[in-house]
Amino acid sequence: RDKVTTQTVVDMKRHGEKISMLTAYDFTMAGIVDGAGVDVILVGDSASNVMAGHETTVPMTLNQMIYHTQCVVRGVERALVIADLPFMSYQVTTKEALKSAGRMMKEAGAHAVKLEGGEPISNTVKRIVDAGIPVMGHLGLTPQSIYKFGTYKVRAKDEQEADQLLKDAKILEEAGVFSIVLEKIPSDLAKRVTESLSVPTIGIGAGPHCDGQVLVLHDMLGLNKDFSPRFLRRYEDLHNSMDSAIKHYIDDVKTGDFPNENEQYK
Ligand code: KIV
Ligand code: NA
Repeated sequence: RDKVTTQTVVDMKRHGEKISMLTAYDFTMAGIVDGAGVDVILVGDSASNVMAGHETTVPMTLNQMIYHTQCVVRGVERALVIADLPFMSYQVTTKEALKSAGRMMKEAGAHAVKLEGGEPISNTVKRIVDAGIPVMGHLGLTPQSIYKFGTYKVRAKDEQEADQLLKDAKILEEAGVFSIVLEKIPSDLAKRVTESLSVPTIGIGAGPHCDGQVLVLHDMLGLNKDFSPRFLRRYEDLHNSMDSAIKHYIDDVKTGDFPNENEQYK
């Protein structure tokens, strides 16, 4: 199959073909996800939570995101690879944002970058796009702003925040984004946003009307036992499978069952 480009995902919206997206943070997982045929791989700053064990995405650094992205890019043949720009790598000045985005492309080999926010970062988005770097937007529950929100609850349930989100989506589209992630907003609002844009929306906890869906790989595989928001569908129970495999191994070592006659050099 042909490599997925930013143009491919825009075309998919026009043709009514849903876009599948998952996160990955390392070479091995990226190879599995790409091999299975996912359209888009996001090197999310959720690496802060699932890889580094932080409570939020705030501590993630640009160098850490570049490292994860380098690892993912080496494992991918077909999917479009998008990398999150981490907190404070694009908010201070447009110049710094452009440098951060540029490093993500040159040093890490990303195909596009993702930035959180609407109107306040629209000039920055435009500048990055003008430099030839595709940008994905991210609206709704934007985790880098968790200390402003104070909660991971659904966003834009009131009319004022919903209107602002609709405006932000339009502004981002005008600034040149090729797609927008909508995180944890009511389905009917996500539907309105999706219908108002010509670029695709990718939802997480945003209902069925988005042009595509994204989940955090570790969550959908059931590696994170204690994370079960309403929007999450678990396709595997890898925490349990791994737990029993590891217990089995420990047992075999203790009893002397491993290694056996064939699992040694004579
Ligand atoms: O970091 C991440 O994994 C994300 C997705 C949940 C959209 O931003
Ligand atoms: Na993210």
